Amino acid sequence: MAFTDQIEPIKAAALEALQTAESLNNLEDVRIQYFGTNGQFTALLKQMGSLSKEERPAAGKAINLVKSELTKTLNQRREELEAAADSPKQATDFTSPGRRRPLGKKHPLTKVTADIVKSFRKIGFAVADGPEIESEYYCFDALNTPADHPARDTQDTFYINTKDRPLLRTHTSSVQIRAMEKMPPPIRIIVPGRVYRRDTADATHNPTFHQIEGLYIDKNVTVSDLKGTVEFVFKELLGKEVKLRFRPHYFSYTEPSLEIDFSSPLVRKMGKEWLEIAGCGMVHPKVFENVGYDPEEWSGWAFGFGIERIAMIRYGINDIRLFYENDKRFLEQF
Ligand code: DAH
Repeated sequence: MAFTDQIEPIKAAALEALQTAESLNNLEDVRIQYFGTNGQFTALLKQMGSLSKEERPAAGKAINLVKSELTKTLNQRREELEAAADSPKQATDFTSPGRRRPLGKKHPLTKVTADIVKSFRKIGFAVADGPEIESEYYCFDALNTPADHPARDTQDTFYINTKDRPLLRTHTSSVQIRAMEKMPPPIRIIVPGRVYRRDTADATHNPTFHQIEGLYIDKNVTVSDLKGTVEFVFKELLGKEVKLRFRPHYFSYTEPSLEIDFSSPLVRKMGKEWLEIAGCGMVHPKVFENVGYDPEEWSGWAFGFGIERIAMIRYGINDIRLFYENDKRFLEQF
């Protein structure tokens, strides 16, 4: 067959294949079939070399025309297929179910704090707060803590610089002083807040955690008011079977000072009978003097406890660090 007669059938077949390619992959297969190294059109080009001098110009012209036509068709079909791939195949179906977006939840510490606050509000306590960056005066001196007390040691306290020694408060007790300086008695406040200590993180310690401070000042306040209040709140929070035990202790800002142990089925579940849960006591006369209250006229009690402790008992959590890792698998359980 003459060379030029071979061109036409290949062109017709190639055009047909290109125009009817159904996908970009399919189109690429067709391209390789004709223009690849072993392609049918490529084979025609290779034959050019064996043509006589006379035949060559006409054959070259013919083949170049076909080549440009096929290339144009290939590009056109590619554009069509690309456009189709970009646009949705179907119109939006407004009756299909919507996509659910995951909803955030309250952090367990936020929830427990809110519940504690709610219980105290029922019995007339207001919420107060104070700064986390404190002076030694509010955190220690005004609370009658001796200058050589180990709690002040840089081992326990984060000092911000050494000149006038501001620090990160080690407890919320500093807010007792601030509240009493601000308002005259009687006082009935709680103070939820973040505190800091130079502890190495482990299952029961973290360099930052949360406390709730309580302060109640009026005339003729007694230890039994303290016991009754604390018992009411803990029963609300952790169930009716809660038992509390008060043990003598020492804090510089209370006299007498007590530590509260806590027992309940939840504690037994954790393999213990009693858990130390709070410190408390009757406000020390020295503290009253420091804020200008007359200790002969006023009496009061104070307490402080850790919020993480309560949350751990309530939810059966055995590692305090889980509260700060913000692992969604943990947070989603509450
Ligand atoms: N501030 C104490 C602590 O961080 C807790 C505490 C004990 C607070 C006795 C008080 C109190 O108000 O009276 O361990």
